[in-house]
Amino acid sequence: MSKAGKVPTLRLDRLLANMGYGSRREIGLLTGAGLVVLDGAPLRDSDQRIPVTPDLAQRMVVDGEPLDPPPGVALMLHKPLGVTCSHKEAGPLVYGLLPDRWRRRDPALSTVGRLDKETSGLLLLTDDGALLHRIISPKANVAKRYQVTLDRPLKGNEAAIFASGTLMLEGEDKPLLPVETEVHGETSAAVTLHEGRYHQVRRMFAAIGNHVVALHRDRIGGLALPDDLAAGAYRIMGEADISAVFGGNPA
Ligand code: URA
Repeated sequence: MSKAGKVPTLRLDRLLANMGYGSRREIGLLTGAGLVVLDGAPLRDSDQRIPVTPDLAQRMVVDGEPLDPPPGVALMLHKPLGVTCSHKEAGPLVYGLLPDRWRRRDPALSTVGRLDKETSGLLLLTDDGALLHRIISPKANVAKRYQVTLDRPLKGNEAAIFASGTLMLEGEDKPLLPVETEVHGETSAAVTLHEGRYHQVRRMFAAIGNHVVALHRDRIGGLALPDDLAAGAYRIMGEADISAVFGGNPA
């Protein structure tokens, strides 16, 4: 929905081409064959304008399958180890975990921030630039929690150092914002960050003489990685999931 609350409309061929269903000519062939159906009735004119409402995926069928989520979609993905948050680097990419057609969408899906190749856990993706910026904006203070496994035993002073707001990372000139730490075991802890600097968790532990051997993000704001979302799987976010991202934080 636009800011003014008006439902945006798009030509049917433009909408489906932007969602990766083919060229406008190919969409014309699909509609001509009666294979694009809205509310049970075939749409014959590929140049007719369609209100792009969030429920379109429940109302439109393309070539016998429900329409993909229309533009304005957000996903939560359980990022496995070994895939990169990039559109163009070599090797397996997070976008390769999505259906092929979704990789041809315009606007494209982008990750909300990044996780390192060797970090697993909750990763959000969206094609909604305004939502993406709202989540990463420092004003929203969306906290991120990481489960950390370390190479060497914790000494007991880590929580105080991370909470101090004075820890400097190598090569930087501004101290880190305070980080909350929960110690779970000799070599395991959870840290909750209120900012996202490059390789922050690994560099925080390196700064105090330890080494992260495994890193997993299990929470963004008030949204936890669902237990039943397997590594490599994704789920379309509903309004409640999006509100949860902004919940659990002071205003
Ligand atoms: N901190 C890191 O070091 N790596 C991540 O992927 C996220 C936070």
